[in-house]
Amino acid sequence: MEAKKKFYITTPIYYPSAKLHIGHAYCTVATDVIARYKRMQGYDVMFLTGTDEHGQKIEEKAKKAGVTPQQFVDSIVLGKDGVKALWKLMNISNDRFIRTTDDYHVAAIQKIFKKMYDNGDIYKGKYKGKYCTPCESFWTESQLVDGKCPDCGGEVIDAEEEAYFFRLSKYAEPVRKLLLEGNFLEPASRVNEMVKNFIDPGLEDLCVSRTSFTWGVPVDFDPGHVVYVWVDALFNYCTALGFMNDKYPDSDFEEFWPADVHMVGKEIVRFHSIIWPAMLMSMNMPLPKKIYGHGWLLLGGSRMSKTKGNVVDPYILSERFGVDALRFYLMREFPLGSDGNFSNELLISRINSELANDLGNLLSRSVAMVEKYFGGVIPAERKADPMDDELVSMARGLRDKYERLMDSFGTQAALEEIFKVISRANKYIDETAPWVLAKDMDANGARLAEVMYNLIEVLRITLTLLTPFMPESASKGFAQIGATEAETTWQAANEFGIRRNVRVHKGEALFPRIDAKKELETLEKLEHQAPACQAQQHEAEKADNKAEKKAEKVEEKQDAADYISFDDFEKVKLRVAVVKNCEFVPKSEKLLRFTLDMGGGEERTILSGIRKWYPEPETLIGKRVIACVNLKPRKMVGIMSEGMLLSAFTPTEDGGEELRLLSTEDIMPGGSEVG
Ligand code: ME8
Repeated sequence: MEAKKKFYITTPIYYPSAKLHIGHAYCTVATDVIARYKRMQGYDVMFLTGTDEHGQKIEEKAKKAGVTPQQFVDSIVLGKDGVKALWKLMNISNDRFIRTTDDYHVAAIQKIFKKMYDNGDIYKGKYKGKYCTPCESFWTESQLVDGKCPDCGGEVIDAEEEAYFFRLSKYAEPVRKLLLEGNFLEPASRVNEMVKNFIDPGLEDLCVSRTSFTWGVPVDFDPGHVVYVWVDALFNYCTALGFMNDKYPDSDFEEFWPADVHMVGKEIVRFHSIIWPAMLMSMNMPLPKKIYGHGWLLLGGSRMSKTKGNVVDPYILSERFGVDALRFYLMREFPLGSDGNFSNELLISRINSELANDLGNLLSRSVAMVEKYFGGVIPAERKADPMDDELVSMARGLRDKYERLMDSFGTQAALEEIFKVISRANKYIDETAPWVLAKDMDANGARLAEVMYNLIEVLRITLTLLTPFMPESASKGFAQIGATEAETTWQAANEFGIRRNVRVHKGEALFPRIDAKKELETLEKLEHQAPACQAQQHEAEKADNKAEKKAEKVEEKQDAADYISFDDFEKVKLRVAVVKNCEFVPKSEKLLRFTLDMGGGEERTILSGIRKWYPEPETLIGKRVIACVNLKPRKMVGIMSEGMLLSAFTPTEDGGEELRLLSTEDIMPGGSEVG
């Protein structure tokens, strides 16, 4: 027999620094849907998830809670409402669960670190930074607040400490090539961001050891150093397959590596698409086939996060609406690659309109009619009609459409296609009016049988394709339409009209309608009480915020801040400026000299290195552009430039790019504030 094709898929391993929220559930459900889809197609799937348990943040949280770090993570991972319990509740079909504190993983990380050290890609150097003695913390220049420690506000001194570095710079070109060729990173829109923001400015070597705390994998050949959490974390994808350890058979690694896809949130795409392949190259290992960077769930427009405390609890929602309804909503509402606003209102309205109304009604009405008109068994004698054609052809074409979409992570669009067929079937009931046919069974019995048969076939196919999204409900649906296992396979989903002897069994409504107003009130209350879950945690989170911020900053010195504060943003003064004059700067191949009317009689000179893009500078005269006016003035080729003009690259028709100055409408006077 031919061996089954392998498929290896992973989620990020989550930090057990606090209870997980719906954002984590979102990624895990999406990964689960794809894993189940691949299994349905006949792949031998390995689906891995787990927890990333080391680092200063966890160490500090444990200290605060008065427990050891191990006890702290154990309670979050194994506790009653813990990570493992959550995945069980949400029907996540992971094959393995890795914890980075597992012995086999720790031992393997030590060997991996040593191997990169031995091959010269990890070297000992000096980490230079600003040091706050009372806080025992290193800061980068940009983390300082007014030149002082961001934590205690005290003086900092220049200091250095020994640390190990990974030669990330050496891999800049191979990684650039990897990102730009093929489709290693998806959605493709994320590729440019990685190349422009991180590779083009120059990749610096990465600091991969810490001495300021101990909760990590010790560097076994240099006591006092622990391995940087991201090195520890990224290699989980290999150690969980038995790489460099004997917890699992070597053959797992050989069979499943490289991973087919690492599903990750967009904020950690950089680690997965730059640092991870570089380290694998250093280890001389095959690279994963794909990194998929999904979008964020937002709450009130901003990212849900443990630190901010604006989280939604998947336990409460699963309990109130059922796991399948929640899984469905998460996959139905948002395209995987984009951000989306989470809301209880939308959740309830999706459940009511698509699950209770469209799917639920189709199932209950169809089954009830087969019971009523035929005692539960559809007769063999049936009569087709051209009126059936559209529905039948939609159902026949569904699996192929679905497959194309699912293969490109179009989970939302795949659901949309399924629901088009379901809606069409509901319309078909109205068109064929079975209750009218049933009035004269002698004349219309065979026709009625065909209508019922078609409806039950549509249900069989749509429920089969819904299985990865809503496994429990689909199987309850199969029981009601009396479909056997053989009739609900991937293969069978591509065939219409395969069933003989259709016998249905009436059952409970799969998705009862929800009284939106009442439910929203209940949710509101629960979200405010929820002592066991959220509220208490929020308080603890707030108290911990300070410690956490410090830990995050120290631990991830290289993490280019994904956010700036509103205060930071406010510091940048942007103004509309009217171009009074624009000319080449003698002796410079790059610069243009702008004379700008800033309103109120103020005039400024700004030099901008955009000559290449504007060979006829005088055409800019009269335009309104945007200038940053509080950038420190700087002398270039002997001329003082008093600010910076904003510009952006835009695609050209021939597939290239050109730089264009940002400009505004003509009615805006010079000096207008932008912000
Ligand atoms: O980053 N919307 O762990 P983490 C959607 N340990 N997804 C979200 C989300 C949101 N609002 N918030 C979190 C780590 N996620 C590291 C990973 S991997 C080798 C190490 C999901 O607990 C999303 O997938 O901060 C994101 O990337 C992940 O949780 C981050 O989880």
